[in-house]
Amino acid sequence: MRKIKDKKDKFLKTYIIWKQTKMAMRKTLYIPGPSEVEPETLLELAKPVIAHYGPDWHQLYNETCEVAKKIFSTNEYVTLLPLPGSVCLEMSAFNLIEKDGEKFVAITNGFFGDNIVEMLSAHGAKVLKVESEWGKNVDLKKLEEVLDENPETKAVYLVHNETSTGVLNDLKKVAEVVKKRDKILVVDAISSYGGVELDFDRLGIDFAVGYASKCLSGINGICPVAISKRFIEEVGKRKTPVKSHYFNLTTYMRLSEEWASIGHPHPTSMPTPVVRAFYHVAKKALEEGLEIRYRRHADVAKAYRKAIRALGLNILPKEEDASPTVTTFIVPEKVNGKIRSTLYKNFGYMISGGLGKLENITLRIGHMGYTANPEFLIKLVTALETVLKRLEVINRNLNITDELADIWESLRQYII
Ligand SMILES: Cc1ncc(COP(=O)(O)O)c(C=O)c1O
Repeated sequence: MRKIKDKKDKFLKTYIIWKQTKMAMRKTLYIPGPSEVEPETLLELAKPVIAHYGPDWHQLYNETCEVAKKIFSTNEYVTLLPLPGSVCLEMSAFNLIEKDGEKFVAITNGFFGDNIVEMLSAHGAKVLKVESEWGKNVDLKKLEEVLDENPETKAVYLVHNETSTGVLNDLKKVAEVVKKRDKILVVDAISSYGGVELDFDRLGIDFAVGYASKCLSGINGICPVAISKRFIEEVGKRKTPVKSHYFNLTTYMRLSEEWASIGHPHPTSMPTPVVRAFYHVAKKALEEGLEIRYRRHADVAKAYRKAIRALGLNILPKEEDASPTVTTFIVPEKVNGKIRSTLYKNFGYMISGGLGKLENITLRIGHMGYTANPEFLIKLVTALETVLKRLEVINRNLNITDELADIWESLRQYII
């Protein structure tokens, strides 16, 4: 009897220690958003909440818009919307689409491009799809053809960085084609803002949506949105009013101005701690230097691709199309979920599965902002190697120590 009790106690003790270790284990977000947040940024959330009006807020709001502008590289109008990224994109559609059947071009080569097609269609637009295979870059020739065959097209929509496939679409070339034909260009910059160069003014972009909790490693809850004078003029040409009050850009801008005069620079209430956290991360990005930051993201992404290839796996896009902020690689379907769950359970590292038709085919790693760094990379790749060996996806005798040493050396400058 005594023996059984001892055994039971021992089991219970071991279980409690195991449980506590699990609970204490640090979880790291290696997913392509939300990205891992620095403890320093979390402290911004712990400060006393300020109201969404009054001089303190007015100053913080204006200064935050100023730093957001610098990341967009624009002198045009920039606002912060307390909405999800896709809903901010929908604001452009509310304002641009006046009648059913108006023609809009949506470039799509992934899940988020397809979402834009659906969103525009829901507003009654006739959507002309410029499609390319998932994992490939924009089909520029097709874009030219579609625009030349449909000169009445009102606007072109592009996802800058297709988070579902890990492809960085050629924004510069798309902008050249679109601007040559004098069309409105709307850009989803949700997974590139703060991690990849985004030259709003020079490229002639008219509406772009950035993000807080991807390449800036901020907190979700607001999105920076840049809007050109050209876009506002286009909305001003409407003969019928926008069928929304708050999504009506003209109303929204008028209310913002009117309310600003009473220290309330936004026509609705705002998540002020989230804006403060955004100000903190955006300012940090400027202090790092945008050029250096963009190079850091590109170099870390390149190192990820090198490491994953060394593990014997294939990257979905071609090297020249691969994204600097998210890496998508192919794994056997039968172990896709198991790789993710084992990484999370045993190491506390969360990576993402594929999206849409790539759901069971690919895995995705986000290396955005804080985690676009050699230390985070080495930890994840080493854990991934262990998991792939345990699941017999790769040979147990494979050794990538030399590759990792080279990677560490090449990224030394980014070690914090
Ligand atoms: C490129 C892109 N567009 C749109 C979205 C959707 O953003 P939200 O969920 O904030 O609407 C995401 C989210 O991951 C994204 O990566």
